Amino acid sequence: MANQDQVQEHRIDQFSVGPGARADNWRFLVDAAKAWSEGSGSRNRFDALFAQLEVTEEYHGYPGLRLMAALKEAAASGDASATAALATRILQSLQTRSFRQHANDWDIHDDGERALTDLLPPSLGRTESHRPYFEVLIVTGVAATNWPNLCAEWRRLRRPLDTFVYEPVFVGSFEDAFCATMINPDIAAVIINEGFAQKSRHDAPVLRTLTASIEPLGTTDSALRLAHTLKRVRPELDLYLMSNRNVEQLAGNPEADVLRRIFYSVEELLELHLAILEGVQDRFETPFFDNLKKYAQRPIGTFHALPIARGKSVFRSDWIRDMGEFYGMNLFLAESSATTGGLDSLLEPTGNIKKAQEKAARAFGADHVFFVTNGTSTSNKMAVQALIGPGDIVIVDRNCHKSHHYGMVLAGAQPLYVEAFPMTEYSMYGAVPLKTIKQALLNLKSENRLDRVKMIDLTNCTFDGHIYNTRRVMEECLAIKPDLIFLWDEAWFGFARFSPFLRPRTAMGAANDIEAWIHDPKSVQAYEKQRAGLGDNPSDDLLLRTRLIPDPRLVRLRVYQTNSTHKSMSALRQGSMLFVKDATPRRVPTSN
Ligand SMILES: Cc1ncc(COP(=O)(O)O)c(C=O)c1O
Repeated sequence: MANQDQVQEHRIDQFSVGPGARADNWRFLVDAAKAWSEGSGSRNRFDALFAQLEVTEEYHGYPGLRLMAALKEAAASGDASATAALATRILQSLQTRSFRQHANDWDIHDDGERALTDLLPPSLGRTESHRPYFEVLIVTGVAATNWPNLCAEWRRLRRPLDTFVYEPVFVGSFEDAFCATMINPDIAAVIINEGFAQKSRHDAPVLRTLTASIEPLGTTDSALRLAHTLKRVRPELDLYLMSNRNVEQLAGNPEADVLRRIFYSVEELLELHLAILEGVQDRFETPFFDNLKKYAQRPIGTFHALPIARGKSVFRSDWIRDMGEFYGMNLFLAESSATTGGLDSLLEPTGNIKKAQEKAARAFGADHVFFVTNGTSTSNKMAVQALIGPGDIVIVDRNCHKSHHYGMVLAGAQPLYVEAFPMTEYSMYGAVPLKTIKQALLNLKSENRLDRVKMIDLTNCTFDGHIYNTRRVMEECLAIKPDLIFLWDEAWFGFARFSPFLRPRTAMGAANDIEAWIHDPKSVQAYEKQRAGLGDNPSDDLLLRTRLIPDPRLVRLRVYQTNSTHKSMSALRQGSMLFVKDATPRRVPTSN
C-alpha cells in the first residue's frame, strides 16, 4: 500500500495494479480532501492526488466526466468541505457499487431526495429496477470537448423496456482503447469509430515498448487492427465498427470476422443501442436455468422422489417446516431428476444443456465442454477412462488429486509418477519441473517404451497457486512424442480464462496458441532450423537443455482441461466442467 504522504506516479499502462489500487487511490483522495477541509492538510496534496487519479478514471463510466469535472471545480473554487463531501460520496458509491442501481449516485448535488436523473428511464423507480449494468467503450476521433454531449445523447436512448443499463466511456486513441479494456472489467462492448488517434496524450512507456515497431495504417485497417488487438486480450467483448467506407466490402473481409457488426457512420444511434443490448443478452442467456425456472412453475406432479418433490414432505410437516423456510420454496419446486421430461439429459444432451455447453465451450475457447455434476473428481475420471486403455503409460504428478489415481485404476493404466519441486522453506510443493517430465519421456524412449506413453497428467494451479507454462510444457513434450494427450487438472484455476495475463497459462489458452502456431508457415522453418542445429543424434543432455520445438506437421493436438466450477467460479456444490480441444474425434465420454 502506498505511503499516505507520497503521491505515487500513476500511468495508464500499469495493468497489473488492478481494482485494489484504484480503491486505495480514491481512499487517499478522500483522506486528503477531509484533511484539507479540517485544516490539517492542503489543497495542493488533493490536487496532486486528483491529477494522478484522473488519468485512469477516464476509462471508467463512474464517476464519469460530469462528476469528475464537478469534483475538480469544487477544489478549484477552494471549497474544501464541498470537495470532501463529493469525494466521499463517490468513494462510497464505488465501494458499495451502488452507482450500478442508484440514479442519484450520478447527481452532482445530493439533496437527500432520491431524485432520478437520466440514468434510469422515468418510469422506473430505484427499487423495481435491478437491471444488470455494464459499460460500453466508444473509440472516437471526435474532440474530447464534445464527449459530454455525446454521452448525454447515448443516455437519452435508454428505454424502460431495456433489460440492461449501460454507460458510455469515451477514448480518443488506440492506446487509450487498449488500456481501458485492460483496466476496466465492466466494459462489455466496444464501438470503434474510424479516425481515432494512435497515441494517448498520457505517457505509456511500457505499452510503447510493445507498440514501437507497429507501422501506421489507413483508417479502416487501423480500426481492424484495434479490433484484433482487443479481441486477443478480451475475447468476450462484442466489437462494433462504425465506418464511412464501403461496408459491404468490409463485411466480406475475413479480417472483419472479429466484429459482431459493421455500421455506416450515418446509421441511427438507436440501431447501435439495440445491437449492443442484443449482444449482451446473447451472453446473458442461461439456457438450462431459464428452462429450470419454467419447469418449477409447472403445476405437475413429480414421481421421482415422492416425499421431497415440490417440498410437500417439508412444508406439510409439523416439525421441519423451518428447513423449508431456510432454503426457500424454489429449491423444492426446482427439484428434478434425469428422468424429468423437458430438462434435457446430461448423458446425451440435445436441447438446453447442449446449448449451454456450446456457450461454455465458446467462452473457454474449447471445441467441446461436458458439464459434470459430481465434481472435478468425476471429470478427471471421465477423461482418463475415455482416453486411456489397459497398459497405457501416464506420466503423472505424484501430488495429483486422488481422482487421477482412481481413474487410472479404473482404466487399467500404468502411472509413471514424477515428483513436484519441493519448496521446503515455504512448506509447500511447486509444480513438476519440465526437465523432470522431459527426462521421464527420454528414459522411456531409451527403453523403447515411448509408444506406450499416452498421456501427461498435471495439476495446473496447485492448491498453493503454482502454475505451469502450459504452452512450453506441451510444445517440448510434443517435440519428443507428437501425439501425446495432455490432461490439465485446473480444478482451482477456472477464473484464469477471464484474465488476459493468466489465459495463456490455462490449458485451453495454450492449446489455442499452439494451434495458431501449427498453422503458421514460419513454424516449420523454426522446427527445421532447430533440427539441423541439434544434429541427427542429440544427447539427452542437449535435449534437456534445449527449448524444444515440435514438428508442426506431425503434432496432433489433444488437450483436456478440467475445472471445478464450484471452486473458483459460481456453481452449487460439485459443478464441474471438462473441456476438450482434440484434433482426433473420439467417442463421447459420459458422466458416470
Ligand atoms: C487439484 C484438484 N483436482 C480435483 C479436485 C476434486 O474437485 P471436486 O471437489 O470438484 O471433485 C480437487 C479437490 O480439492 C483438487 O484439489
